[in-house]
Amino acid sequence: MENKKFKRTLVTTALPYANGPVHIGHLAGVYVPADIYTRYLRSRGEDVIMIGGSDEHGVPITIKAQKEGVTPQDIVDRYHSLIKESMEGLGISFDVYSRTTSEMHRQTATEFFRTLYDKGEFIEKTTTQLYDEQADQWLADRYVTGTCPHCGNAGAYGDQCEKCGTSLNATDLIDPHSAITGNVPVLRETKHWYMPLDKWEPALREWILEGHKEWRANVYGQCKSWLDEHLQPRAVTRDLNWGIPVPIEGAEGKVLYVWFDAPIGYISNTKELLPDTWEQYWKSPDTRIINFIGKDNIVFHCLIFPAMLMAHGGYQLPENVPANEFLNLEGEKISTSRNWAVWLNEYLADFPGKQDVLRYVLTANAPETKDNDFTWDDFQARNNNELVAVLGNFVNRTLVLTNKYFGGETPSRGELLDVDRAALDELAGYGERIGSQIEGFHFREALKELMNLARLGNKYLADTEPWKVAKTDMSRVATIINISLQITAGLAAAMEPFLPFGADKLRAMLNIDKPAWDAVGRDDLLAVGHRVTDAPEILYSKVEDAEIEAQKARLERIKQENIVALWKPAPQAADVPFDDFAKLDLRVGTVTACQRVKKADKLLQLTIDDGLQGRTIVSGIARYYEPEELVGKQLCFIANLPPRTLRGIVSQGMILSAEDADGRLIVVGPTGSVRPGASVK
Ligand code: 2FM
Ligand code: ZN
Repeated sequence: MENKKFKRTLVTTALPYANGPVHIGHLAGVYVPADIYTRYLRSRGEDVIMIGGSDEHGVPITIKAQKEGVTPQDIVDRYHSLIKESMEGLGISFDVYSRTTSEMHRQTATEFFRTLYDKGEFIEKTTTQLYDEQADQWLADRYVTGTCPHCGNAGAYGDQCEKCGTSLNATDLIDPHSAITGNVPVLRETKHWYMPLDKWEPALREWILEGHKEWRANVYGQCKSWLDEHLQPRAVTRDLNWGIPVPIEGAEGKVLYVWFDAPIGYISNTKELLPDTWEQYWKSPDTRIINFIGKDNIVFHCLIFPAMLMAHGGYQLPENVPANEFLNLEGEKISTSRNWAVWLNEYLADFPGKQDVLRYVLTANAPETKDNDFTWDDFQARNNNELVAVLGNFVNRTLVLTNKYFGGETPSRGELLDVDRAALDELAGYGERIGSQIEGFHFREALKELMNLARLGNKYLADTEPWKVAKTDMSRVATIINISLQITAGLAAAMEPFLPFGADKLRAMLNIDKPAWDAVGRDDLLAVGHRVTDAPEILYSKVEDAEIEAQKARLERIKQENIVALWKPAPQAADVPFDDFAKLDLRVGTVTACQRVKKADKLLQLTIDDGLQGRTIVSGIARYYEPEELVGKQLCFIANLPPRTLRGIVSQGMILSAEDADGRLIVVGPTGSVRPGASVK
């Protein structure tokens, strides 16, 4: 590694809440990049462990359990197994994947809290908190919704507004309501323990703002903005009955805040993996700790957990926290509650054998510097045009040609021409080039370089045309195939972190063991006479249109279901005096002509027979109607609005329409035929 001061690496991955399966957002944000990083270090022979596990406490779990009428334990048992199995299915190579309901974790988190308590690191405060009298329950975190005091979002939660991202206290919400009964909560006094983050602010400033200027701009920037606004004490206990009991007298009925216990889960799970040597990974300055997380977790991993570790003493802080931005799905925010996601377990069932494709697309499109979008069209295009047409194609051609001309044996190289030397020179740089991108957490760039290596192979074959040379000079063909095979073997090594399933298959076809990273770029990986498979198989197969259509249809169904589920008519408007209503001149007219308004994709120009002189009305319904559909129809309009000029056309009135749940406008008209100009009363 570039930085020689580290002897070992501890990779942590955000613990997903066990209240649902994992989706592509989790994978792109955390697990795929962490797995690439870890597999890469392993292939370099480094001492590295990757820690994962389910986050099984907190209000998201209890709310789900209450909704389903089961216990929180039922929920976490169900999703922990599902998440663990599906991550394995995608080749996410955790050294341990445990859970925060384990006994090891209960003990570790309890001891951690107790140490801080005994050292006097907490502030004890009695404050008023929200209470639902009907449910006889405290309303912590997501048990309460209300209006965000920062952005006015009416659906903000008691711990965070998802619209503006601000983290909140339940008592900050305007017009709070219980998520259990919908009632307006009352305030009651309760005692809690707080981490005085203000005390740790100078140390955090020094550590991050001075010591880690190399962190990703999004991470550094978010930390700086928190620190510049100054940190406040944060409660680390809650009035809930699901969680790790607060281990002190007088704290009956209280549990550790989920964000206090969850990051300690990284420690508990390391202990579970390495009961005797775990401390080396947490306490030794020659360990490099890397936390892979999504951007919503930055404050917890860069400020709160480090403050806890400093307060405890003896622990190393992370060397880097390469947080990703968010991945959207078909242009919309991924949402567990609205089922707007591609779930990993479903993907694995729908696309058997295509684990690498998802890993590839999520890395090629990784939200490293900004939010990105996953679309099924892009998924298909990247598979068919890149994995199949570039990588798979080169590998397949090389293996087929090896069999065709040399009976599957690696031929020897003769005299090298310029074209060969150029290819070998370029090949030699790839190990370093891909590796340094991975070490810098630039996984998209690293993957691009991997594909460039495959492109190098394709270009080499296209330039040297062994199938033509075979008519005249077999020793020249031998050189070309030898070099192509060396590039192919280098690819097998370079694919391992990103595309481990294809790498396995390719190694089997090349008949080689797992190579170390320094194999990438070498030109002597396959000895002369080394036999490769005599039955080359396709490395990656096409994704068909029908498969993509099925996925898009699923999303369309979900969209419709959400529209129905979320539909609420607008609240009734305030009363108006009848005389005001009577001032409106509402009439029926017949459309005699209709056309699109040039350079205005929302507008239609309608010519209306109104029984008088006739009139023109411009209406914003072009996205919902073809002009000819409306000709001959009768519809209602307001006749006495002052004329308005739209795109140079004078519009004399307004067509009435009803807005459907999906925002579609449907024009309103009489149910039977009436004379044009008839008044609507
Ligand atoms: O945001 C989440 O999904 C949390 N469950 C992440 C926890 S990360 C760590 F602290 F455990
Ligand atoms: Zn807000």
